[in-house]
Amino acid sequence: MPDKRYLHLNLVANDINLHQGAYKYEQAQAIPERSTFERLIEYGTFGDEGLFTALFVGDIPGLNGSPAFDGGPAEPITALTAIAQHTRHVGLIATASTTFYDPYNLARLLASLDQASDGRAGYNAVTSVIDQFALNYSLTGHLDREARYDRADEFLQVLRALWNNRSLRRDADGLTRFYADPINHRGNLFQVEGALNIAPSRQGRPLIAQAGGSGAGVRVAAKHAEMVFTNSSTRDSAAEYRANLDKALMEQGRTPGSVPAIPGLIPYVARTATEADERLRELDSYVNWEPIAPFALGQFGIEVAFDDINEAFPTAQLPVPADVEKTIKSTFGNYVGLYNWIHERPGVTVREVVAQAVGRGGATHRKFVGSYDDLVDDFAAWHGDGNVGGFNLMFAAGAQSIREFIDEVVPRLIDRGIYRSTPHEKPLRERFGR
Ligand SMILES: Cc1cc2nc3c(=O)[nH]c(=O)nc-3n(C[C@H](O)[C@H](O)[C@H](O)COP(=O)(O)O)c2cc1C
Repeated sequence: MPDKRYLHLNLVANDINLHQGAYKYEQAQAIPERSTFERLIEYGTFGDEGLFTALFVGDIPGLNGSPAFDGGPAEPITALTAIAQHTRHVGLIATASTTFYDPYNLARLLASLDQASDGRAGYNAVTSVIDQFALNYSLTGHLDREARYDRADEFLQVLRALWNNRSLRRDADGLTRFYADPINHRGNLFQVEGALNIAPSRQGRPLIAQAGGSGAGVRVAAKHAEMVFTNSSTRDSAAEYRANLDKALMEQGRTPGSVPAIPGLIPYVARTATEADERLRELDSYVNWEPIAPFALGQFGIEVAFDDINEAFPTAQLPVPADVEKTIKSTFGNYVGLYNWIHERPGVTVREVVAQAVGRGGATHRKFVGSYDDLVDDFAAWHGDGNVGGFNLMFAAGAQSIREFIDEVVPRLIDRGIYRSTPHEKPLRERFGR
């Protein structure tokens, strides 16, 4: 039985969601520089220490600009295979694009991570958004959203069939042997004979997670996912997402509530709310906002002209979400999040929008600024609503802020009775769901 009473906290474990001022902040604090890979292993070991359900590693399948702001972290499956050797309990969820991968190859890679981690592997299926990345994968242009999700659906059917058609059986002579059957998949996009030649782990196959919140994304999640990564920034929007997902789950003959929705969250916490706010302002002070503005807004499919970054954002130029859901190049949920955020703040400056968009880490994921106790109260309130399974935590200032969270917030959550106090022993797939 899953641990229903407890919040799931996943740790987003690479640098792609850092605050853009994080490296300068570390330098100012005299924190020694580490290689990108040393930083990954550091995140990994925090995974067990913080009793996190899983490490969650996002992926950007191409370069967004040189010099890269994030140090160029290793590809997620490779990173997590290394981290698996430094951890015992934490789950290991790797993101990979169904648009750019081949399903047989990816089935092998993830099954290998599952073996290397003794049943702690998970796969976060995304379809990817940045047009120019398609050119890295022998495509002439990016597929539109419907086509991407059609491909994701067939891709996940193939993955699951390959993974499910395998078993380890103890034969009469006392030896355990690996058996696998062909899948003979003949689809619109993929022709895959099988069988897969990698043995299952103790959880049978990796957990399937999904991130992508448009209507088409929710339909694919309802069909295949066991966990979804969302970007609900209010308790009301989490309730709305829960209702949407439950409706889609029922259409697939699945039980409502059986797939936990886990929104992203970026905590800026300290002893007091004032200190937390000062920390955020300090991080902001290390960023040169002007040059990153076009890229930051472009990620949301927003192209607006402005003369001065300190002027009010030209809100009237933003299209209404419903008008662009089919055509927008970016993650639709991110666009909606940013659109609402701007509209709730009349007079907000371009600089503030850029900071919210990417500068302060994690796209439009909710940013929480407050004391340790405030954050525990916030978690308890969301947990009490019953619409989320927990949070995917992104620590904008990197290792120092994770350390502080583990030392200060985790014990308070345990005291509140909403977070487990012992490490997970079960395989990853048995930790989620109802
Ligand atoms: C919470 C969240 C996290 C995501 N993480 C990634 C990622 O790490 N890499 C990636 O290529 N796409 C990522 N995506 C975008 C997905 O590629 C998604 O399929 C894309 O947003 C298009 O679909 P949508 O409009 O349904 O969201 C993420 C999307 C969401 C909502």
